[in-house]
Amino acid sequence: MLLARRLCTSCLRAKCTTSSIANSSNGNRFALLQQINNSIILSRAIPVVHHRAISTSRDTVEINGTSYKTDSWFNIPPNVIDKIPRRLHLQKDHPIYITRQIIESVFPPPTYNYHNEFNPVVTTHQNFDSLGFPKDHPGRAKGDTYYINGDTLLRTHTSAHQADVFRANLSEGYLISADVYRRDEIDKSHYPIFHQVEGARSWDRAKVANGDATAAILSDLEKLPDHPIEVQDPNPPFHDERNPRQEAHHSPAEVEAISAHLKRSLELMVVEIFTRAKAAAVRADPNYVGEPLQVRWVEAYFPFTSPSWELEVYYDGDWLEVLGCGVVKQDLYINAGVPNQLGWAFGVGLERIAMLLFQIPDIRLFWSQDERWYNQFKGMSDNLDSLKPFVPFSKYPACAKDISFWLPSSFVESGDTKANKYKWCENDFMEILRSVAGDVVEDAKLLDQFTHPKTGRKSMAYRINYRSLERTLSNKEANYLHEKVRESLVEKLGVEIR
Ligand code: DAH
Repeated sequence: MLLARRLCTSCLRAKCTTSSIANSSNGNRFALLQQINNSIILSRAIPVVHHRAISTSRDTVEINGTSYKTDSWFNIPPNVIDKIPRRLHLQKDHPIYITRQIIESVFPPPTYNYHNEFNPVVTTHQNFDSLGFPKDHPGRAKGDTYYINGDTLLRTHTSAHQADVFRANLSEGYLISADVYRRDEIDKSHYPIFHQVEGARSWDRAKVANGDATAAILSDLEKLPDHPIEVQDPNPPFHDERNPRQEAHHSPAEVEAISAHLKRSLELMVVEIFTRAKAAAVRADPNYVGEPLQVRWVEAYFPFTSPSWELEVYYDGDWLEVLGCGVVKQDLYINAGVPNQLGWAFGVGLERIAMLLFQIPDIRLFWSQDERWYNQFKGMSDNLDSLKPFVPFSKYPACAKDISFWLPSSFVESGDTKANKYKWCENDFMEILRSVAGDVVEDAKLLDQFTHPKTGRKSMAYRINYRSLERTLSNKEANYLHEKVRESLVEKLGVEIR
């Protein structure tokens, strides 16, 4: 039930639907920010309790060499803008690059062609409308998504390019790898920028022998290798209520053939990744045994596929969701001018896979420029049989600091759409932490919240863990950062420190 809550292959939490901060794109963090707007933006379909929207004094922002006009929707902080050019999926020997290479090896040309350089700046149409996202989908909210202006954003997923690639119709299958952007909480597996690979495989009814798509798909399925792993797949290929077939477009036999081809293809991808992960672990420790790989298919929901599934892998005692996929909604093909095609698509987050593959303990490491990090992977891109787990540097001590504050008195719980009301959005809080302390914030957890019985004011308490991955942070530095966080929260969110 992924997208019922929000669009995500890396986390499943429901999110708030409004945002309050935007900030300057120049180096002087937040210095140019000013509160200007206390009104509801009525033109958007999402019921937004708008509040302390903050604007920059400049009206353009430059991303990868192109200048874009900003408006009151602009909410991308400098620490995100600065990282856009890094494109980790294109940096040879980087674990994200290596993970992409492994995935590509399972989907070879000429059936599949690869798109690795699409611009991260896309329109709301590409990211949402072209995929059938409803106008009030929570993923569209400023609290979840980085906007340049009301019509333009940093893609939140590689699916943003699906319609365009279907329209270009260059090959039967394709893979897209790219950096994607989401406003999110802070912990060891969430970062506002991460990477995905998108894939799809289509068949053309007008081109297959005798116009029999089912036979063509089943014949392609037979050409795929078998694999030895245990797969749990207890549900039928489609289910009228829970996971419906697109009745107007696909016969039951077509859906069964597409889903069988999809599942085998993605199981082969997971086998390839985990076989390499095991070989890497054995290279580091010849006595490593590990557990046999187990995977299972779970019914899911995405606006752009039906039926839909997630693939989960049993890892370290837990079922871990690794990808989302399904039978492509026929409207996508129709709107892309290729109505005779039918097929499947999937999307997978690369950080989570790379963390398993290389035993990387913290997502911040992917962005490290420390030679103790990148030297460990040198030469691996040219020899995928030389992969080895990451050896962490010594673990530096954490400094935990608590903070508690009253929300502005105009605070309302969700649901109220009256003007001049303040709605708490945790992602705004998280973004301020990242903007002040960067990658030195390891995580931030809600400790407590309560509403004062007399005044009705709401209090929040968080514990923030400061820890550098690269050196020991002194208590003095942590205190300094914490003080800056306090000041920034007061200035940007109007809270009152307790
Ligand atoms: N875009 C989805 C996400 O980020 C993942 C996904 C699911 C991609 C299903 C697909 C798909 O192509 O068919 O959560």
